[in-house]
Amino acid sequence: MNRRLFLQSIPLLGAGLVSCSTSRSRSHGKAAVRGSLSFDNPSVRCFSPAIEKPVRLLLIPDTHLWRDDFRGEDFMRYSARMSKAYNSTRHFQTAAPTDPEQSFVAALKLAGQRNADLVVLAGDLFSFPSEAAIEWAQARLQDAALPYAYVAGNHDWHYEGMDGTSDLLRETWIQKRLRPLYQGVHPMMSVRKVGGLRVILLDNSTYEIHPEQLEFYRRQVKTGEPIALIVHIPLYVPGRSVGFGCGHPDWGGKNDKSFELERRPRWRETGHTETTLAFHREVFSTPNLLGVFAGHIHRPSSDAYLGVPQIVSDANAVGAYLDIEFLPGSYAG
Ligand SMILES: [Fe+2]
Repeated sequence: MNRRLFLQSIPLLGAGLVSCSTSRSRSHGKAAVRGSLSFDNPSVRCFSPAIEKPVRLLLIPDTHLWRDDFRGEDFMRYSARMSKAYNSTRHFQTAAPTDPEQSFVAALKLAGQRNADLVVLAGDLFSFPSEAAIEWAQARLQDAALPYAYVAGNHDWHYEGMDGTSDLLRETWIQKRLRPLYQGVHPMMSVRKVGGLRVILLDNSTYEIHPEQLEFYRRQVKTGEPIALIVHIPLYVPGRSVGFGCGHPDWGGKNDKSFELERRPRWRETGHTETTLAFHREVFSTPNLLGVFAGHIHRPSSDAYLGVPQIVSDANAVGAYLDIEFLPGSYAG
């Protein structure tokens, strides 16, 4: 890889190192499990005394597949903008021309070459719920023959301008189109045990968390086992803008800048529910949480809040992904 291009393409690289010292505090009767984490985009290394055998996740967010066919003709008035948004892209490392399909195939190939234990499809796999795109992705996943987990992003179920609340449209298009990608697990919340790691996927693609998801998260935390939390939309971290992530205390209709562009209802004036705010508080006080991993922003970033790291991946539409290794030990190097 051309290092100069790499540095140019990742302006946040210099700030990309997050380190969290090993905590000796105790909760739920068990020692805290966080060690340290380093981020050198697109590689994440997370060391934990609670990890006995290495675990590798290949996180693929925001591919934005847009392939469509005759079945999508009746939906074109809802898919027109997003069907053109990522037709051709520039590779995040080389700046060479590429596209979402090429990027997705390359990421799956890399996951196979690196023996990833789990491919995590972290939302916005599609720019809209096109049957042709969903079938194409399913075929590529079948070809790859790798274990994978999928959670929806806000574009996966969104036909712009279609009547209905976000909750209703999400439920509708998950049931009508996206359902096979979940492989039988609950679309809103699921967990995969990978080695000694609990990989939790929560759907926050409407920018909020529902009470049953909060209860699910609490049950996972109580196991005391090391956790990696996957959400499409990152969680708000102090210092980031109000629109950066889910859970900002001032989020609400007055800060919703994109509802007209995305042709959806404006966010309610009253902002987040107490459930979403409680989820945010609890995530950043979870002693056995090794990190939060997200997409949505289409720009790589790293933060640590109250000792919990959050890494946001660049978009797979430009070839990006996160190669996340969980390794035994309490510090890197
Ligand atoms: Fe996206």
